[in-house]
Amino acid sequence: MPVPVVLVTAAAEGFRPNMITIAWTGIVNSEPPMVYVSIRPSRHTYELVRRSGEYVINVPSVDQVRQTDYCGVVSGRDVDKFKETGLTPVPAAHVKAPLIKEFPVNLECRVVETVKLPTHDVFIGEVLAVHFNEEVLNENGRVDVDKVRPYAFCMQEYRTVVEQIGGYGFSKGVEHK
Ligand SMILES: Cc1cc2nc3c(=O)[nH]c(=O)nc-3n(C[C@H](O)[C@H](O)[C@H](O)COP(=O)(O)O)c2cc1C
Repeated sequence: MPVPVVLVTAAAEGFRPNMITIAWTGIVNSEPPMVYVSIRPSRHTYELVRRSGEYVINVPSVDQVRQTDYCGVVSGRDVDKFKETGLTPVPAAHVKAPLIKEFPVNLECRVVETVKLPTHDVFIGEVLAVHFNEEVLNENGRVDVDKVRPYAFCMQEYRTVVEQIGGYGFSKGVEHK
């Protein structure tokens, strides 16, 4: 710990679009950019990702912590999570899975490899597009962490990411902006 916590959206023919809370996720390659999400086959979303070969990673801000938790304790088999949370699905550019409008960062992904592990399947996805809500960008067009206000999952608790204690390469004198 800490680990990230994101909402992953997926859609497949014959199902309503769904979202699942995922803590086991991250970046695994730079060119092309690739990420992974690790999903238990018992999850409803697993079936949607398996069938469509696509997903969107939606990175939340502290404002969405309640909805993110909710989507991790109920199943899309039983409820329409978009309806229940009031979150807004918007069409993506390259995949059928929707972006969540209220989430500051969204990554559209296409599955390029699936690694079957004993309890989870790891869906490795190529990132086809990244969207940022304008409000989280600074004057140089770069993401401003203070505006995103991300949080992490830490020993079963959601905790904010607050204080800057260094910057990339600062131990060797690299200036960080
Ligand atoms: C903070 C948090 C993190 C979670 N991380 C994962 C994960 O990485 N992989 C997974 O398969 N389930 C994870 N879950 C559980 C699923 O989100 C949960 O079972 C969800 O209700 C499944 O929804 P679905 O049936 O609509 O797909 C997590 C739940 C929470 C609350």
